Amino acid sequence: MKNLLSYEGKRCFIVGCFSGMGEATARVVQSLGGTVIAADIKRPTTFDFEAFHQVDLRDTGAVDEMLAGFTAQGAIDRLFYCAGLPGTMDKVDVMTVNWVHLRHTVETLAPHMAKGGAIATISSAGGLGYLGSMDTLRPLMATAGPAEAIAWIEEHKDEPWMDGYASSKMCSIFYTVNRGPVLTQETGIRLNCISPGPTDTPMMSAFVEQTSAKFMDSYPKPIGRNSTPEEQAWPLVFLNSDAASYISGENLYTDGGAANGLITGSVSIDMSGLV
Ligand SMILES: NC(=O)c1ccc[n+]([C@@H]2O[C@H](COP(=O)([O-])OP(=O)(O)OC[C@H]3O[C@@H](n4cnc5c(N)ncnc54)[C@H](O)[C@@H]3O)[C@@H](O)[C@H]2O)c1
Repeated sequence: MKNLLSYEGKRCFIVGCFSGMGEATARVVQSLGGTVIAADIKRPTTFDFEAFHQVDLRDTGAVDEMLAGFTAQGAIDRLFYCAGLPGTMDKVDVMTVNWVHLRHTVETLAPHMAKGGAIATISSAGGLGYLGSMDTLRPLMATAGPAEAIAWIEEHKDEPWMDGYASSKMCSIFYTVNRGPVLTQETGIRLNCISPGPTDTPMMSAFVEQTSAKFMDSYPKPIGRNSTPEEQAWPLVFLNSDAASYISGENLYTDGGAANGLITGSVSIDMSGLV
């Protein structure tokens, strides 16, 4: 039987792969036979790549320069957008890296990807609130491109829901489940995301700083521990593999069951841990 998880012959563009889940994704893709084209603000050192694009994803001009290299038809087979900033940073920057340029990268590259291609991005279980915020998010989703989106964010940045991090993750989940089905119809390219729970990557210290160690410890973990970066990389790699050829517009909670427990009320968060 054909191994549908194989990445033999697949050129994979991984945005945000210096550390954490993106770095783990690059290693997994390579172990499955794929070729990695890397992009990050920092040059990766732990895996081989065909090419490296040094890019600051806060800067639309730099992102456009990077994307211009991939607009030949069939230039890449798979796109992984794994970059992200934590909520301890400037909130417009966080929204820009975590969602505005995620969308821009997806929309720019999807029409040029090889037939049968797929895109997987990283959101967060912290974006769960999108379920009750769709009407708030729709005007931002309707913005035409990065400049319009960033202007909208600047204008609305003092609204209580716009914290930077959770707001960016609500956007990326809503974008995936709302736009994914249409993008697939238009381009034939599948679009999915994962929503991880607490994962031991360099970003964890920022989450502790933003909330508290007690809050992060008491965040629901049905499996009883934080995830490893590899436990997030494999679901991403699955979603972008031929084994997932009938999956699109999906947000997969990779959080040991916490989000669905919160949605259905079988688990709760201990808010007393918040500082
Ligand atoms: N760690 C967690 O608990 C957790 C939980 C849910 C979701 N996430 C999300 O997972 C994704 C990956 O984060 P991670 O946990 O692996 O952390 P990480 O900090 O190790 O990875 C983030 C990557 O993005 C790159 N990056 C950051 N700013 C950039 C910029 N301006 N330009 C270019 N590259 C930039 C970093 O260099 C790094 O390679 C993020 O979107 C994060 O929000 C993390």
